[in-house]
Amino acid sequence: MKIAIIGTGYVGLPTGAGLAELGNEVVCVDKISEKIERLNNGELTLYEDGLEELFRKNVREGRLRFTLDMGSAVRGADVVMIAVGTPPHPQTKEADLQYIYAAAEELAGYLDGYTVVATKSTVPVGTGDEVEAIIKKRNPAADVDVISLPEFLREGFAIHDFFNPDRIVIGANSEKAKGVMLKLYAPFEGKTHFLAVNRKSSETIKYASNAFLAMKIHYINEMADFCEKSGADINEVAQGLGLDSRIGRKFLCPGPGYGGSCFPKDTNAMAQMGIKYGTHLKLIETTIAENDARKKKMAQRVVNAVDKTAKIAVWGLAFKGGTDDVRESPALQIVEEMANYSSNITVYDPKAVDNAKKILGSSVSYANDAYQAAENADILVILTEWDDFKKADLAKLKSKMRLHQIMDLRNILNEAEAKALGFAYSCVGK
Ligand code: UGA
Repeated sequence: MKIAIIGTGYVGLPTGAGLAELGNEVVCVDKISEKIERLNNGELTLYEDGLEELFRKNVREGRLRFTLDMGSAVRGADVVMIAVGTPPHPQTKEADLQYIYAAAEELAGYLDGYTVVATKSTVPVGTGDEVEAIIKKRNPAADVDVISLPEFLREGFAIHDFFNPDRIVIGANSEKAKGVMLKLYAPFEGKTHFLAVNRKSSETIKYASNAFLAMKIHYINEMADFCEKSGADINEVAQGLGLDSRIGRKFLCPGPGYGGSCFPKDTNAMAQMGIKYGTHLKLIETTIAENDARKKKMAQRVVNAVDKTAKIAVWGLAFKGGTDDVRESPALQIVEEMANYSSNITVYDPKAVDNAKKILGSSVSYANDAYQAAENADILVILTEWDDFKKADLAKLKSKMRLHQIMDLRNILNEAEAKALGFAYSCVGK
């Protein structure tokens, strides 16, 4: 099939490469000429595990192209996917739909023959109606169906998730459009669940899923607080909870709160939608407030453990392991908060230092490796769940530090080993 993808970000690029690998002819469009130039020069504009290989292969074999020219991508396409950003509005926290609407307006002029326009970006319930109205107004003769095709890829695992989806949700109000999507995703038949629902249900499924996962993380963090007071151990509690298949083991890792470009944005947007429809989503509102407060509490916990002149070493700045992304990163927010109390903080992250520098500037010092960050430190604080940190050489770490204190806010180190080496070790939920 001929596919046009509008937007070459964390959703558009992996989806484009994945669909090309399935044998489709894919053209990705973006407005930023520097991005398209780099992609056309064979240079990836973002890091995703496994993307580089797919990108090179499919470009080489002629199934994946990049252009600034919307017309050449959309004309003759069977499916046009909108994968542009929906950032939170700074004041209202609602999803800002200006890029979606601009894309709809522009693509409408180039539609020829029957086309399915699929919204992949996370958009508030009812956006499909708006997109349809914009396209019909601009091009009344267009033979088009607008559908919702929510994306469930995780950053850092986008290629893995593309080829191993838990489900493919198709929000189409037309049988013809549904047929096109089933054909496009036919290679996944028998390997995943297909769920065809109405467009608004599909738009809701995306928000309801992210909000549920955010609540699950908040829940385990709340249980961790409870365990700290009651004498239980959150790691054991999470294990016991997760073994109930109705609850499930995933997303029960306690920590400093969730972050990233999706959960904070989508929970806020969902709460706003609840207000708009006059049905307050109190669980989600509580989750947002508690998750925000948690980062301050965690910073306070560190500051309380040391005196004002102590050197604080920090491992981890990215919002989770496996990415260089620091958007809404709890780690970064905790470091910013700690920097209000201490001018002696040294940070390290395997991938996110460059991005973090743009925000933290000279308020902290930057180390080139984990052990260098810990040199002469009075406390080490772990804020991101990087595999490298899980495998840290604790004896070497001890030899570098001045005082042997670890605050592991991701519960990733081996507590027994750390204590046996003489560290004063603390984590969350114990
Ligand atoms: C999330 C969803 O997991 C994807 O399914 C969805 O497609 C994506 O948002 C999106 O809407 O685009 P992502 O933001 O990449 O994916 O990150 P997650 O792996 O879900 O982690 C989010 C945050 O929760 C991170 O800060 C992570 O450290 C934290 N987390 C996760 C925990 O604190 N505990 C856990 O048990 C799991």
